[in-house]
Amino acid sequence: MDDRCRHRSASLSCGWAEQNGVRCAYHGWLYDKNGRCVEVPSMPDTAIPKRAKLYSYDVAVRYDLIWVRLDSSLDTKIPTLRSWGNLSRRCVQGRPYEWATSGHRRLENFFDLAHFAFVHDGSLGTRDDPSVPIPIIEQSNSELRWQYFPEKRRQN
Ligand code: FES
Repeated sequence: MDDRCRHRSASLSCGWAEQNGVRCAYHGWLYDKNGRCVEVPSMPDTAIPKRAKLYSYDVAVRYDLIWVRLDSSLDTKIPTLRSWGNLSRRCVQGRPYEWATSGHRRLENFFDLAHFAFVHDGSLGTRDDPSVPIPIIEQSNSELRWQYFPEKRRQN
């Protein structure tokens, strides 16, 4: 749900989780899992206004990640990770890092393979061969996957 209390806009992430929801740290309003305010401690006998409701998001936990659908009007699906649970594979989780850029710029970077030779010289590419690598692309249902094997590239 939104990280802004409907009362005085305090950051709900400064509050805490309780069995019945999330409690704001500022005046103690309690919101249930649907974002509806269900308790105002300073006015326990007063009806809670309907507008005291936060926008809540669809959330699922899959592949050890938390997935959030920011727009519930879209029929988005969590991609299928076919190799998940395959004991011959290993999941390696990278450490979080901050990258001061926009989401669009970041996605563009992921699809731009021409930078490998210069930015990732010695790992994903090499300056000795700055030609754009050609990945193996597979499409099935709504899934588009690509694989790139830099070690094979160096052998060619
Ligand atoms: S700002 Fe959250 S209860 Fe007042």
